[in-house]
Amino acid sequence: MSAPSLGPALRVALLGCGVVGSEVATLLTTHRDELASRVGAPLDLVGIAVREVSRPRAGVTGTALEALLTQDADSLVREADIVIEVMGGIEPARELLLAAIASGASVVTANKALLAQDGPTLYAAADEAGVDVYFEAAVAGAIPIIRPVRESLAGDQVERILGIVNGTTNYVLDRMASEGLDLDEVVAEAQRLGYAEADPSADVDGHDAAAKAAILASLAFHTRVSLEDVAVEGIMGLTADDIAWASRTGQVVKLLAIAERTTDGVVVRVHPALVPETHPLAGVRGAFNAVFVEASAAGELMFYGRGAGGAPTASAVLGDVVSAARHRVLGGKGPIESSYAQLPVLPASQALTRVQIRIDVQDRPGVLAKVAAVVAEHGVSIEAVRQAPVGEVAHLVVTTHAARQDALDKTVEAIRGIDVVDRVVSVLRVEGI
Ligand code: HSE
Repeated sequence: MSAPSLGPALRVALLGCGVVGSEVATLLTTHRDELASRVGAPLDLVGIAVREVSRPRAGVTGTALEALLTQDADSLVREADIVIEVMGGIEPARELLLAAIASGASVVTANKALLAQDGPTLYAAADEAGVDVYFEAAVAGAIPIIRPVRESLAGDQVERILGIVNGTTNYVLDRMASEGLDLDEVVAEAQRLGYAEADPSADVDGHDAAAKAAILASLAFHTRVSLEDVAVEGIMGLTADDIAWASRTGQVVKLLAIAERTTDGVVVRVHPALVPETHPLAGVRGAFNAVFVEASAAGELMFYGRGAGGAPTASAVLGDVVSAARHRVLGGKGPIESSYAQLPVLPASQALTRVQIRIDVQDRPGVLAKVAAVVAEHGVSIEAVRQAPVGEVAHLVVTTHAARQDALDKTVEAIRGIDVVDRVVSVLRVEGI
């Protein structure tokens, strides 16, 4: 059988040459023939824009790719058919992508911060120019989740997304659980092993997961959700004791990105939560990511894999490049922004959740009744109470049924004020039930 004839080569520009960029450049080169067959035209990498050409780069320095390095990103984006942005940060990435789109290029980006902050500007510009914006790599690395939510589930109604979308924090929580270590120790270990950045705050404070939550929520609910709409709490307040108690009560602690439809709108939040050991997300170990989707017709779906790293993220980028390139060769266009539903984006105080409250109380008759009465006064129902002696005091673990977050907050405040309560040790939400 003769090989199909190929169309004229497409010019591909790469912005950024870090861990992901160098892998994208390498794959474009080593898989050149395969990619040409899949697209119907060769993909010519015409330049790699970097801030500093002379810096040594693994996989690039000393190879043919080195000659493609340039500091002139402005000129590069104006002469490309497809621009891949893996430089990160808001500027100059935003201006370069807008310039590329204005010049008629389709763009592929892994830039979650930019999309969560100003995605609609890019989508509108691309729509007007009739080009594609693809961003599979912006959420959960190699895991196909953008395309499933945006396209495969376009005929269904997504009700809720629960995601472990930050590998660094999942690694930290997993090590705390398996080794009984304190958070600080594990963060330091993660930095030594290269799982955590030198400045891990975007990960441990939940902001990286929040950007991903905003992107997923926008797609799932056909409603614009930006980073400012996401209520964020990180993992830094967690103790080894929280993790041990989770295990004692048949649960694990995960940093979850949660986007859900309520009767009044949508709520999007990121915070640590207790997840039953029987839930599929509980088995997501180490630095892996997973996104659990509940849709009204499809039911429950889970997408699992590597959420970071050069090759896994490059795989998602290349998939998008092939899609955009096929449109150049065969005609057609990828999905445009779908924000028609314009559902109200509600504060996290309106989320429906459950909490597990651990309190130190004086060990004498009537204490449990006082705590139960305060919970009931706030219209909150108790699901379970466990008690364990801890020295002179008793440790009560109260788990509630589902209630609104604001009612649960008021309940906890009221518990703090009970005379027989020495202290509220911790309050963790319970999700995935
Ligand atoms: N730092 C992120 C993580 C990967 O730990 O999962 C990039 O979003």
